[in-house]
Amino acid sequence: MNTQLFGSKMASIPAISQSQLLLKKTQFISTPKTSFFTIPISKPNKSLNLYGLKFKKPVAATAETAAAAEEKGKKRYPGEGKGFVEEMRFVAMKLHTKDQAKEGEKEAQEKPLPKWEPSVDGYLKFLVDSKLVYDTLEKIVDKADYPEYAEFRNTGLERAESLAKDLAWFKEQGYSIPEPSSPGLNYSAYVEELSKKDPQAFICHFYNTYFAHSAGGRMIGKKVAEMILNGKELEFYKWDGDLKQLLQNVRDKLNKVAENWTREEKNHCLEETEKSFKFSGEILRLILS
Ligand code: HEM
Repeated sequence: MNTQLFGSKMASIPAISQSQLLLKKTQFISTPKTSFFTIPISKPNKSLNLYGLKFKKPVAATAETAAAAEEKGKKRYPGEGKGFVEEMRFVAMKLHTKDQAKEGEKEAQEKPLPKWEPSVDGYLKFLVDSKLVYDTLEKIVDKADYPEYAEFRNTGLERAESLAKDLAWFKEQGYSIPEPSSPGLNYSAYVEELSKKDPQAFICHFYNTYFAHSAGGRMIGKKVAEMILNGKELEFYKWDGDLKQLLQNVRDKLNKVAENWTREEKNHCLEETEKSFKFSGEILRLILS
């Protein structure tokens, strides 16, 4: 396995070529060498303290600022110097396994597992449930119960329309499109509820959903397309314009919104990351159902 592959930035993720993807009922898993599809989800990660203050290792990039802040009796959080998105990213990356991404710290399962065999039916379920979640997120920011949500309208990262096109394509090919299933229904209901009462937690899901899709999500899509769709590139994985720039624009907006948050609100947002992994992991697993 080319470890560089999974440590690379999302804009230049090369094709996954040699990975032998394997399946465990509840997890994406591969050979001991290539366990990047282990989806870190179900159980809370006891080894990870989500509060920056409790992280064991100080981060090199913030070491200087951390020292300066400590002098003033104030600790810095990993990534804080670069803005809040970097803090969210730091927490998310720790929830990956090493083989998923080089910054990952989550333990991979080592048991021998059956072959990773995505099916078109499973993939369709994944697309349908993903669409439901993106429909919900996009409706929430359009409605903007909290004014800061309005910042995230028409960012160019929206996925609901592209997924609608993909599902129409599958229909043309003769596939019947399933109804949304519980992973998508549960996640959608959860973010909808959260968005009305807990903007910090909602923003965590917003960030993780769109940014995960632009990184690991694209790798998975490419692999699945090679395996079961004759390499057909779905609209879900295409963006109008320069994806790097679109992501940067959203990072800037997220940073701006979070500037108005207290440290407690920021920590509350960071703490929601594990839930985001859990819900998204359940939807990803549909690919193998
Ligand atoms: C099989 C599952 C997954 C794989 C293989 C994977 C892989 C990756 C990779 C390779 C990166 C890029 C790392 C870099 O910038 O160097 C990444 C970034 C990221 N992933 Fe995942 N990931 C997976 C699941 C998830 C899940 C379930 C979530 C959360 C819902 C998530 C959230 C993120 C976030 C927030 C980033 C940062 C993106 C950015 O900085 O632009 N990932 N992932």
